[in-house]
Amino acid sequence: MSRADYTGHWDDKFRTRAWGRYPPEDLVRFMGRRFRDADRKLVRVLEAGCGPGANLWFMHREGFAVHGIDISSTAIEIASQRLATENAGFTSPQPDLRVGNFCSLPWHDAHFDVVIDIFALYANTLPVIRRALVEIERVLKPGGLLYTKLWGTNTTGFGLGTPLEPGTFDAVTSGPCADMGVTHFFSREEILSEFGGVFQPIAIDYVLRSDDVANQRIEEFQCQFAKAVI
Ligand SMILES: C[S@@+](CC[C@H](N)C(=O)[O-])C[C@H]1O[C@@H](n2cnc3c(N)ncnc32)[C@H](O)[C@@H]1O
Repeated sequence: MSRADYTGHWDDKFRTRAWGRYPPEDLVRFMGRRFRDADRKLVRVLEAGCGPGANLWFMHREGFAVHGIDISSTAIEIASQRLATENAGFTSPQPDLRVGNFCSLPWHDAHFDVVIDIFALYANTLPVIRRALVEIERVLKPGGLLYTKLWGTNTTGFGLGTPLEPGTFDAVTSGPCADMGVTHFFSREEILSEFGGVFQPIAIDYVLRSDDVANQRIEEFQCQFAKAVI
């Protein structure tokens, strides 16, 4: 693994431990509201950093044309298996899942109606996140949407671990990102400046939770952006 690549641990993780099987409620709400009346087989969705497929599984069942990319071949293997077995019989378009880095997306310009990031972009350094945002913008249609979930700086673990750059830590020692490799924690202002430089903001919502037993706080940003219509 090179110093610039902190993603090599994900394969091990997915091989050795169970991962969430179901999508978060906010994603279900977002997809339901945004595409309530759409002809879903025509809605092309890309999940960047799809992992073992918790979100793709749901979106495929809901009729969307799902696409996924992940740096971990184990994740893509598990996701493909889930879609082929658990979703057999669903008539949604054939899923398109690929192993790769979301900094270099193997799809042509303006291919997607929506790109989803459920806690994947954050697992990179800022230069990588910036490259990925430019790629995501490239593959979205004008007016296309980006839904992204990011950890906030009020999350336990912020400031703990090995600092790599402002807001980014490796080997975070506690909180939801402990033992998850590199983590970038965002403030609302930073989300607006980094994502807002590429996309138009639609909503930047956050949820603050606390777990007194595990003694941790969790700040999740749930953001919606749109690609400009020129
Ligand atoms: C915390 S997991 C989330 C997985 C999935 N989105 C979910 O909600 O279950 C982060 C995922 O992002 C992937 N990932 C991180 N950086 C990546 C990159 N630069 N390119 C592609 N995938 C990446 C990891 O391999 C991992 O599957």
